[in-house]
Amino acid sequence: MSTPTSPTVKPLVVEELITPQGIPTPVPTNRPIIITIDGPAGTGKSTVARMLAARLGLDFLDTGAMYRAAAAIMIDKNYSEEQAGELVSEVIGADMHFDWSQDPPTILAWDAPIDHRIRSQEVTDAVSFVATLSELRQHMVRKQRIIFAQHPHLVTEGRDQGSVVFPDAAVKFYLDADPEIRARRRIDQLGLDPETMSLQTMCQRIVERDRIDSSRDDGPLVCPDDAVRVDTSGLGIEAVVDLMIKHTMAHVADLPEHDL
Ligand code: DC
Repeated sequence: MSTPTSPTVKPLVVEELITPQGIPTPVPTNRPIIITIDGPAGTGKSTVARMLAARLGLDFLDTGAMYRAAAAIMIDKNYSEEQAGELVSEVIGADMHFDWSQDPPTILAWDAPIDHRIRSQEVTDAVSFVATLSELRQHMVRKQRIIFAQHPHLVTEGRDQGSVVFPDAAVKFYLDADPEIRARRRIDQLGLDPETMSLQTMCQRIVERDRIDSSRDDGPLVCPDDAVRVDTSGLGIEAVVDLMIKHTMAHVADLPEHDL
């Protein structure tokens, strides 16, 4: 009598836990794996995502850089908000891509570096509008999925990564923090003089950006139902990363192969 065949769940063996670059990692990299991190500005998302990726031996994708590069193109080419169609064509023509030999990867448009432009205040002011353009978002979503196909061991961070772009991601996180704490972090991060940029003004800006990000029709900032929500208000970066690693390990160990 033959025994019924059960679905095969591959046990994790130590030999598998080496990245293609030969870096030891606690997650299996013999098949694709994606971890998404979403949340509003000032929650420490980028820093945490980079550290998590480094500790797990995965690549790191900053999707905010893509929207920021689109905003820089809008400014550099003098497009008005009424010329959204032309702007989207221009952005598509720019063939935005990352230089993965850099750590963190830097972004290029028309094969020229654009990274140095994208953190300026004028870009930050323009990017909320750019991020509301549905056609542009569709283009970014397509690009991000292509990037995952080319970099199948990925930590990606943004606003819509777990909800829209990678709804089947193995592990999803949503980072949040008190707006005043986020404002304080932003002032420190940008090295701003508290005399010229008050905590109150920065806090108002942050709350306004949250409102725009959360209320747009396409890809709004939401916490996916299956995401782990982490409030970083009272936590240091290391503590947040440790917590995320613990969760990732516990979750990945339970996953059947096809869910990675
Ligand atoms: O994370 P950041 O501050 O670099 O993001 C810049 C802007 O881009 C912000 O207004 C939100 C938007 N964004 C988005 O709409 N979707 C993403 N996946 C990433 C960023």
